[in-house]
Amino acid sequence: MRLPLSINSLNEVVRVHVMVCSSMSQQEIWIEELKQFLRIPSVGTTPEHAPDVRRCAEFTRDLLAAAGLHNVGLIQGDGHPMVYGEWLGAPGQPTVLFYGHYDVQPPDPLHEWVSGPFAPEVRGDDIFARGAADDKGQVYLQIKAVEQLMRRDGKLPVNVRFLIEGEEESGGEVLEHFVASGDPRLQADAAIVCDTEMFAPNLPTLCVGLRGIVYGEIHLRTGATDLHSGVYGGAAPNAIQAICEVIAALKDRDGRIHVEGFYDRVTQPTAAERAAWATLPFNENEYREKEVKVSALTGEAGFDVFERTWSRPTLEVHGIRGGFIGEGAKTVIPCSAVAKVSARLVPDQRPDEAVAQLQAAVRKACPRGATAEFKLLHAAPPSVVNTGNRFIECAAEAMKQVFGKETVYIRSGGSIPVVGLFDKHLGIPSVMMGFGLPDDNLHAPNEKFHLPNLFRGIDAMGRYLELLGS
Ligand code: BES
Ligand code: MN
Ligand code: MN
Repeated sequence: MRLPLSINSLNEVVRVHVMVCSSMSQQEIWIEELKQFLRIPSVGTTPEHAPDVRRCAEFTRDLLAAAGLHNVGLIQGDGHPMVYGEWLGAPGQPTVLFYGHYDVQPPDPLHEWVSGPFAPEVRGDDIFARGAADDKGQVYLQIKAVEQLMRRDGKLPVNVRFLIEGEEESGGEVLEHFVASGDPRLQADAAIVCDTEMFAPNLPTLCVGLRGIVYGEIHLRTGATDLHSGVYGGAAPNAIQAICEVIAALKDRDGRIHVEGFYDRVTQPTAAERAAWATLPFNENEYREKEVKVSALTGEAGFDVFERTWSRPTLEVHGIRGGFIGEGAKTVIPCSAVAKVSARLVPDQRPDEAVAQLQAAVRKACPRGATAEFKLLHAAPPSVVNTGNRFIECAAEAMKQVFGKETVYIRSGGSIPVVGLFDKHLGIPSVMMGFGLPDDNLHAPNEKFHLPNLFRGIDAMGRYLELLGS
């Protein structure tokens, strides 16, 4: 879809999102508009939210159009739409591909939220809502950075494309198909991904490594029917007990994963990277008490917290379904159970190999009288970014200039599947310039985004494009 827009005619044709009164500052206008974005419950995983997801894609498209981008539109595949826009008026200059996602995680548990997950509220310096930091606030700052430069100069210092997807949180395949398709709209020299965290408030950070993921379900069955636990207890196998035994066999109390071959390809961070991590401001007790909020940390002996969360693989159980979970008591022996589990992968582990290893391990761990199967839901490879390129160097410089401190390089334990896809199919590096904070409550109740990071993010992104273009 091509909209015949020139930058000057935009105000007439693009839907106005915010009622602006003359007394409002630019920052107040941004906050109001971001609130509208956050009010749309674009939960990608639940089918009943599909119309909201679509509305959110349209909202994102309108933001791109209002910023002065061309060829703005939705790209519809077999799933939630992607949003595209471009500005290619700087011949001879590099082209950057902005990536983010407008879909969000489910908001539950609802009763833990101080204000509603889709009723954004500013408290102090933070804006609270599902998706505030992951990733609408960060998508918003990318768009506003471009809009600011367009408003000021009528043009941009580099060429830009935007690809904002709606299936990041649900592990959909639309984006992979598009990235693999060789579509000319993805021709770029580097990707700019705003979907990670800074190491600490006021500490400019670039993320240069992510873990991969293999997410699946263990389906376990004992017999044909549930049984009376008094009549058969003692003789009949129990599916919940059995699935717990399988899970306990996969990972021991010291965090070691007992899946054959699982560690074979795991590499260590370099000495230089380890030395850089050692200079990060970090207090393990404070991290445990204030951020993780637990009485004791767990994990593999012999590895520090950075290694355990950034450069070592892990295995987690997300939920177990089966048996009787209603109010009151019911004496039953359940005959089936399902557990949702995922493994995080690190360089150079491969998702396809890890899936096969997990399938074999689940079968092997299954106790007598039961059958168990690992069924894959989605997977993404780990990634490490080479820091020796101009796209990273300019990003570090832009962050440094705006935050007034030397930029640090960290890894992150989370996964962003697109980073591996850009590398594999487009051969381009990703610059992970994130503005979330460790206490932003991603995927949890009371998710927030720190407003000073929104404003400095807009500045840093604009500065980055200027540096790239100079
Ligand atoms: N933005 C996160 C990943 C992230 C969080 C990276 C914090 C760095 C720091 C992303 O939206 C996410 O949650 N990804 C999922 C993977 C996906 C395939 C479901 C994840 O990591 O669980
Ligand atoms: Mn995200
Ligand atoms: Mn997320």
